[in-house]
Amino acid sequence: MNGKAYNIVDHTYDVVVVGAGGAGLRATLGAAEAGLSTACITKVFPTRSHTVAAQGGIAASLGNMGQDDWRWHMFDTVKGADWLGDQDSIEYLCRNAPEAVYELEHYGVPFSRTEDGQIYQRPFGGMTTDYGEGPPAQRTCAAADRTGHAMLHTLYGQSLRHSAEFFVEYFAIDLIMDQDGACRGVVAVCLEDGSIHRFRAKKTVLATGGYGRAYFSATSAHTCTGDGNAMVLRAGLPLQDMEFVQFHPTGIYGAGVLITEGSRGEGGYLTNSEGERFMERYAPSVKDLASRDVVSRSMTMEIRDGRGVGKDNDHIFLHLDHLDPKILAERLPGITESAKIFAGVDLRRQPIPVIPTVHYNMGGIPTNFHGEVVTLKNGDPDHVVPGLMAIGEAACVSVHGANRLGSNSLIDLVVFGRAAGLRCAETVEAGAAQPDLPADADELALSRLDRVRHSSGGSPTSKLRLDMQRVMQNNCAVFRDGPVLEEGVQKIKEIWKQSGDIGISDRSLIWNSDLIEALEYENLISQAAVTVNSADNRKESRGAHAREDFEERDDANWMKHTLAWADDDAQTVDIDYRPVHEYTMTNEIGYIEPKARVY
Ligand code: FUM
Repeated sequence: MNGKAYNIVDHTYDVVVVGAGGAGLRATLGAAEAGLSTACITKVFPTRSHTVAAQGGIAASLGNMGQDDWRWHMFDTVKGADWLGDQDSIEYLCRNAPEAVYELEHYGVPFSRTEDGQIYQRPFGGMTTDYGEGPPAQRTCAAADRTGHAMLHTLYGQSLRHSAEFFVEYFAIDLIMDQDGACRGVVAVCLEDGSIHRFRAKKTVLATGGYGRAYFSATSAHTCTGDGNAMVLRAGLPLQDMEFVQFHPTGIYGAGVLITEGSRGEGGYLTNSEGERFMERYAPSVKDLASRDVVSRSMTMEIRDGRGVGKDNDHIFLHLDHLDPKILAERLPGITESAKIFAGVDLRRQPIPVIPTVHYNMGGIPTNFHGEVVTLKNGDPDHVVPGLMAIGEAACVSVHGANRLGSNSLIDLVVFGRAAGLRCAETVEAGAAQPDLPADADELALSRLDRVRHSSGGSPTSKLRLDMQRVMQNNCAVFRDGPVLEEGVQKIKEIWKQSGDIGISDRSLIWNSDLIEALEYENLISQAAVTVNSADNRKESRGAHAREDFEERDDANWMKHTLAWADDDAQTVDIDYRPVHEYTMTNEIGYIEPKARVY
């Protein structure tokens, strides 16, 4: 096929950001504020990006509700990550977090307030004081339980104020890479009229979020299909640590809708069918405020041991019915509504039925702490891919390592969104001439678009997607085991093969959701494949990756990042490794040595 079949529009910007969630908007704002011509391409209206669903808050050691220190935050993050995080990046995150939150406050985010007018902060899982020796920290800054919603609206308004240009409801199909391996921009289709847009840029910043929809039950929106991750795979670059998938302990049973960890931060607790507060057995010190992987595993073990609640004994109760209704109304209004709508319970009087639900991808596009994409090249594990950046859940910087702490995602979005804006300002000269695009600049994207648009096989997208989601849910779950993972690898490969038989029925280019869902499914299946292959390959337990056949963490052999490449044509995954950064960014804190992870 060639581009003549399509109406192609060319654009040139200094910076193009793909995605308008918290990270994408913060990078867009930063680049535009620095005087760079900046476009933000997004498949949904910016304030409908999935950050809007983030509830409980954003971590920063402001110390408004008790003593705090960014070094304590760093210790908790390293430990939460089960020592797989890069400690230079974690230092960057935690030391810059307070400034990033104050910036948000000054931009206009309506944070909840203490009696004396400071930003309100609540406890969250795994956040402690005094390097884990002190009581839980109140570190999570909150705008009631709608923190992500408040941030998105503020950041979008600020981006417009600095004249960033938005291409709303444009779907990015593929990157434009040149023969030297540099990224030169991205090709997108306008969903409204089917026109094709080639964006040429000095820097292309992927802020496309996670791929939770590779699983059957997820707190993620249907739009969370990891489009940037898949574009990176098709560009021949690897994804990192994809085996680490976070299950949030409290998704509403049956619906998957999130009930914030902030509910436990405000005093909520979990019980089994015997009415027992079982977390006291698993994490005697911090109980229900242990990190998410620990709580999700404990819940799963209670259910497996026959102490689940409900007629099928297959879930757990979350209690908030003992809390002051005034606190619920002020600090948890959103989940009060969600519990009513999605579980039919009045949480002031009844427990909420909950179950661990896929929530976050620790893995993604490998980057350094400036947001520059890195890869393994000629023996260099930190080789920077020219022109390409990634931030937010799409990226693996890696601050969350094997397990992310709650409220460290929103701070990751703004700290590294801000870092990417700063890096663009340092490295890009505003308005400088750019070389012509390669002759085949749109070939990868348009041949893909054309192939799917005219596909007439016997497998509908909905069937392939459901098959993939069920395999991921069953074969790559909270607990993992060799034979189950191996079966998952084979089943995903079969489904991946069947993708060649995909068939869509709408060939138009005007709001063709049939076509876009097929493109999104293609993005998901390659990520499902690298996830289950990476999980099968890692023969140890660490953070969210809990193997029943290798129960211990094995630092001697597995203190390393997985890199995985995918070949869509051959349906194969190749694996290699990058070392974990066992050093910090400055000498204001030393390397935090690995030890047993107990809460
Ligand atoms: O539970 C929550 O409010 C989710 C927060 C997070 O994932 O960081």
